[in-house]
Amino acid sequence: MDIRFVSAGGGDVVAIMASEGGELLDAGKALDTASGGRIARAMKAARFTGAAGQVADILAPDGVDYGRVLVIGVGKADAADAMAVERWAGHAVKRTLTSGVEKLVLQPDSLPAVSKAEAGAHAAMGARLASYRFDTYRTKLKPDQKPALQVVEILMDGTAAAKARAEKDEAVVEGVFFARDLVSEPPNILYPESFAERLRDLETIGVEVEILEPAAMERLGMGALLGVAQGSARGGRLVTMRWNGASSKKSKPIALVGKGVTFDTGGISLKPGAGMDEMKGDMGGAAAVAGAMKAIALRKAKANVVGIVALVENMPGPYAQRPGDIVTTMSGQTIEVLNTDAEGRLILADAVWYAQDKFDPSAVIDLATLTGAVIVALGNEHAGLFSNDEDLAHAITAAAQAEGEPVWRLPLSPAYDKLIDTPNADMKNIAGKPVAGSIVGAQFVKRFIKDGMPWAHLDIAGTAWKSGPYEDPISPSWATGYGVRLLNRLIASRYED
Ligand code: BES
Ligand code: MN
Ligand code: ZN
Repeated sequence: MDIRFVSAGGGDVVAIMASEGGELLDAGKALDTASGGRIARAMKAARFTGAAGQVADILAPDGVDYGRVLVIGVGKADAADAMAVERWAGHAVKRTLTSGVEKLVLQPDSLPAVSKAEAGAHAAMGARLASYRFDTYRTKLKPDQKPALQVVEILMDGTAAAKARAEKDEAVVEGVFFARDLVSEPPNILYPESFAERLRDLETIGVEVEILEPAAMERLGMGALLGVAQGSARGGRLVTMRWNGASSKKSKPIALVGKGVTFDTGGISLKPGAGMDEMKGDMGGAAAVAGAMKAIALRKAKANVVGIVALVENMPGPYAQRPGDIVTTMSGQTIEVLNTDAEGRLILADAVWYAQDKFDPSAVIDLATLTGAVIVALGNEHAGLFSNDEDLAHAITAAAQAEGEPVWRLPLSPAYDKLIDTPNADMKNIAGKPVAGSIVGAQFVKRFIKDGMPWAHLDIAGTAWKSGPYEDPISPSWATGYGVRLLNRLIASRYED
């Protein structure tokens, strides 16, 4: 689907904005006038209120050069932000993607909190994000189930600024789509080795990719990661992606670390069968890191960034680790594995240590679909944020808010840390009692963060994919690609020259 910025309209379908109270904004008012008030009349007849996402679909009103006018609500004008514009555009694409039309015209208006250029750029972003599909394995789609929409025209005056921004954003959309594809792929296709090969493709856009196989990880002493991997016939991989875009190649990189469990059965501590298929998405953290690397490389970010993903399949079987096993991590610390289903923290233990040991980064941010408990706490709306650094936590919160990938900070403290003490080893991988599960997971990862290292952990178990009926026009697939936009903006705002 192509995006074009144009200054004159006409075509099959146009989408215009209305705010709560059923008020058309400027572009819509002009169309309404041209139609002799027919658009406003149709809105009234449809009890259109302008609530965010509400659509009045008006066919061929007289006096207007379009076959169909979509009036789409943005909610209260004062409260409408850039994300409201994206969702507005998303609704328009959702309505037209498979409806048979080849061209959609979007007429974004400026809003009290969104300039005209921003509105244009975010309309483009929303339209692109909404066009995502994962049809790889659908061989029998009927013609009317396939997207026919070829072009989205953004009709506005002064297109240059919006166009420039939208061109940069295209890199971010590519990153989000990469993450969505990875999370969507079935676990027989995407396993550690094949995942690593897909990351290898990033070399074509200038990312340095290094893949460690089990033997190399063994030499490094990654006993926790290998302990999880050993139950699977498919060996684990640790992949490092480097983007050195800063003017000084020697300045410290920021390290992004992702949990990449390509399928989480729970291992010997087997999960219940119902809904287990969703555990193909347990590599959402790794996908977010990979997507962010793709985005920053495509837009040639002036920053040094290293992305590290730990890829394993958590399986039961004759070689699987047992509850009670004690493993030695690369850091030298030992872990008593009391539940093989708390595997994400085990692979992160070695991955975050490797990140610090090898790259001496200025900060470490890990992303992981780590705990079901974060879904209990925050649902699908916010990721859980944990950090030992106020500035980093605030920067992440701001980036997350601006990109529509919100986070909510949860606490860390020595009292929680104590819960993973055990007499048998340096720590155990679950708490003695089932409390504060997400915090305990974060405390565990923190034990592998060196003193003085700024660190943040994002528990994205509730946001990497959407189980249930929850819908978002700019995230039309099960996989959301959560984290790519957040990381990209964080790097743009805090780590670029
Ligand atoms: N991958 C799961 C967490 C998860 C649950 C992600 C639901 C997405 C949706 C993780 O490996 C896990 O199994 N965590 C356990 C930890 C427990 C054993 C301490 C959990 O959350 O139950
Ligand atoms: Mn698990
Ligand atoms: Zn898991």
